[in-house]
Amino acid sequence: MKRESITTVNRRGTDSVKWGLYGDDVLPLWVADMDFQSPAAVIDALQERVAHGVFGYPLHPQELRELVVSRMQERYGWKISPKDMIFIPGVVPGFNLTCQLLTKLGESLLIQPPVYPPILNAAEKAGVRNIRAELVRQPDGSYTVDFDALEAAIEADTRCLIFCNPHNPVGKVYTRTELERIADICLKHKLTIISDEIHSDLVFKGSQHIPIASLSDEVAKNTVTLIAPSKTFNIAGLSCALMICTNHELLKKIENASHGLLGDVNVLGLTAAIAAYRDGGDWLAQTMQVLKGNLDYLSNFIQKSLPEIKMHKPDATYLAWLDCRELALEEGPYKFFLKKAKVALNFGDDFGEGGQGFVRLNFGCSRELLSEALERMEKAVRER
Ligand SMILES: Cc1ncc(COP(=O)(O)O)c(C=O)c1O
Repeated sequence: MKRESITTVNRRGTDSVKWGLYGDDVLPLWVADMDFQSPAAVIDALQERVAHGVFGYPLHPQELRELVVSRMQERYGWKISPKDMIFIPGVVPGFNLTCQLLTKLGESLLIQPPVYPPILNAAEKAGVRNIRAELVRQPDGSYTVDFDALEAAIEADTRCLIFCNPHNPVGKVYTRTELERIADICLKHKLTIISDEIHSDLVFKGSQHIPIASLSDEVAKNTVTLIAPSKTFNIAGLSCALMICTNHELLKKIENASHGLLGDVNVLGLTAAIAAYRDGGDWLAQTMQVLKGNLDYLSNFIQKSLPEIKMHKPDATYLAWLDCRELALEEGPYKFFLKKAKVALNFGDDFGEGGQGFVRLNFGCSRELLSEALERMEKAVRER
């Protein structure tokens, strides 16, 4: 493996939402981007592209299509063709647009809270009802699906499921058996699956991501899969994501609807995506080691020094879902840690049912930052 250095740099004053939203005295462990510099190959490719000096409208490069085809084959044994994808500026606009096309006003869509807030809010944007089949929290803090409840929740006018795998915020990677049951339920009730798999590259050893569309041709035709290099290679600000769908009629419909509405992919985003998918493998493997080290550190710290907080190690993502209910904080853990520890986390309530009393912590940062934030949190809890 090529030795990459996984480097953090000062992000204050760089118009980063993570670092700029709160005051300089606050340590930001919230919004889902990492503090690591992107792979050297990405930075070099961008510098070369910038040096060219012309930034007109882009074509969507065949090389990127081919890279995605090989990536899906190598990582998941999923055989797709370069024609099975379109490039879009973001996963969120991708699923919002798809929901709007698949539903009519007043109909419904299905989600599994607690879940990433834009998924929670997609129904409202589409003018439809949100049907919620809550994930079930187990005593060890892991989450399972109550398949009977999921199926029972579906109504005659429910048109699609917005699925999130790996799941944000609970960090769950679905097993093949779980995916098969979900896919079967969706086929039986004619629900299109919109599968947000943006975190699929960030899976820890011991778990294996399976794209739900890879289960069978029939499931693939019933699924719109959304992926992006953005979380993986820390290039979220470059606005480049992908929608994969082997049902070309549906894909064409979405592509047509996107014109003039979504905006095109950023020309630098395409350059970065190619470099990341082609040359970012070693960087990613090393970043996963750094994340694993941070995760172990976080988990040990919580067990020893903040035992009232319960955390199940995520199978994937750099996001930890912290159950702070035992602390019984009057103002809730988000406000408490922001005010008393000067640590910004994500507010659990924003993730819907099952989020009350929880916060989400982003450990995609330097160990120093993580340990200082945890020490501040511990002190605030002890002094309360
Ligand atoms: C599950 C999930 N989907 C989508 C996104 C954002 O996607 P994009 O920036 O491509 O719209 C995030 C970012 O945190 C996420 O966690």
